[in-house]
Amino acid sequence: MLTTVDAYHVKSSGLTNSPSVAYTAVTHPIPEPAPSVRTRETFALAEEYILPVYARPPIVLEHGKGSWVWDCDGRKYLDFTSGIAVNALGHADEGVSEVLRSQSSKLLHTSNVYYNEPSVVLASLLVSLTQREGGLGYPAGSQHSTSIPGAKVFFSNSGTEANEGALKVARKVGKDRGGASKTEIVCFQQSFHGRSFGALSVTSNRKYQDPFQPLVPGVRVGELNEFEGLEDLITENTCAVIVEPIQGEGGVNLADVQWMRKLLRRARDTGAVVIFDEIQCGLYRTGNLWAHSTWPVECHPDIVTMAKPLANGYPIGAVLMRDAVAETMTAGTHGTTFGGSPLACSIGFHVLNRLSQREFTSHLMRTSASLLNRLEKLSDWFPELVGPVRGRGLIVGLVLLREGDPQRLVDLARERGVLLLTAGKDCVRLVPSLNVKEEEVSHALDVIESCLVLMACDH
Ligand SMILES: Cc1ncc(COP(=O)(O)O)c(C=O)c1O
Repeated sequence: MLTTVDAYHVKSSGLTNSPSVAYTAVTHPIPEPAPSVRTRETFALAEEYILPVYARPPIVLEHGKGSWVWDCDGRKYLDFTSGIAVNALGHADEGVSEVLRSQSSKLLHTSNVYYNEPSVVLASLLVSLTQREGGLGYPAGSQHSTSIPGAKVFFSNSGTEANEGALKVARKVGKDRGGASKTEIVCFQQSFHGRSFGALSVTSNRKYQDPFQPLVPGVRVGELNEFEGLEDLITENTCAVIVEPIQGEGGVNLADVQWMRKLLRRARDTGAVVIFDEIQCGLYRTGNLWAHSTWPVECHPDIVTMAKPLANGYPIGAVLMRDAVAETMTAGTHGTTFGGSPLACSIGFHVLNRLSQREFTSHLMRTSASLLNRLEKLSDWFPELVGPVRGRGLIVGLVLLREGDPQRLVDLARERGVLLLTAGKDCVRLVPSLNVKEEEVSHALDVIESCLVLMACDH
């Protein structure tokens, strides 16, 4: 491996098949103190008044457009975080803004004391798309009819709340099926399901859990894709199994479909309800409606939870479940003040309609192919730094082999105008907006390659 930036320059000149060195120099320096009064005041107010639970870089984002954001000091960044896999249509989307404007000037909130039209329209779109594209036990190409089983939706305000709702449904089904002892929940290492007590109890990360013990009792933790021991993990006392088909925060780890088949079979045998948390990987991030849409129906769950991109950043979450489990829930068994508001649901309907257009998903798959194609070259160029590429569609993880390097790459890329995320212990996560352009993917990769050149030279 070459060891100096100059050597990479020499190698690059005249060769297309070598990493970019166009962005080895810092383009987005962060002087101290910050140049603008606004930035300095924001830092001061945050320090005085905001609970310090986030470790953030010293920039204040001010506005955005598409895949780009600008900070208060005028620096422009290519956003490959999309608000942690949220802004599927990018920032300041005109269609989303128009729905927000028109619905908020008509009817913003009603509570669930009354019906509202946008919530039923969005729920029916979620079910009909799931039938058309496959998921939740429907083979792709199913059509709504009275001869196939139905599905129901509960709207929440976040992913965490969607998971809480799903766990409650599963608990109630468990008690109906197996009495007072059928209350245990199975989850998996490196999963992330949220920060409230129920969701945290199934988020098997000691850093998040330990300060808040005791958590919900009766949680067993298995290992993703481990075939051995599923019989002992999932028992007659299990009411719920919660799993991400692609772990997001845990490092973009893909569940194996054969493992899922075995897990589902064991869950069916014991009467456990299976919940797929598709909060990060669902709603077209993989190019399909659900990450599990392409799997055979015997690998489909009873419940799917979703949130992040559904209203492009306006808070919303939802629990989608088969009628067979939904029927346990009756008036008063669960509820929310804000969930299912006319505003959140009309935005959700607009967003979902656009994401589900064939041209939209074909574009997504083309940009995904370019992204994966560029990323896959990196381990040849940087064998001591870069491991495999994980992911599908536009949820992609680049494994870095040296401890500390994921954060180093994120920091170097930010100093060169590209925003990235880490995931798990060893991974840099790329979750751009789903309408990211080819040239934006190419720019992000030029920056990432230049940063890796620098990191290789550090070595
Ligand atoms: C897979 C998964 N589940 C649940 C959550 C929690 O969602 P929220 O932060 O909207 O409560 C997240 C958030 O990152 C997630 O990625």
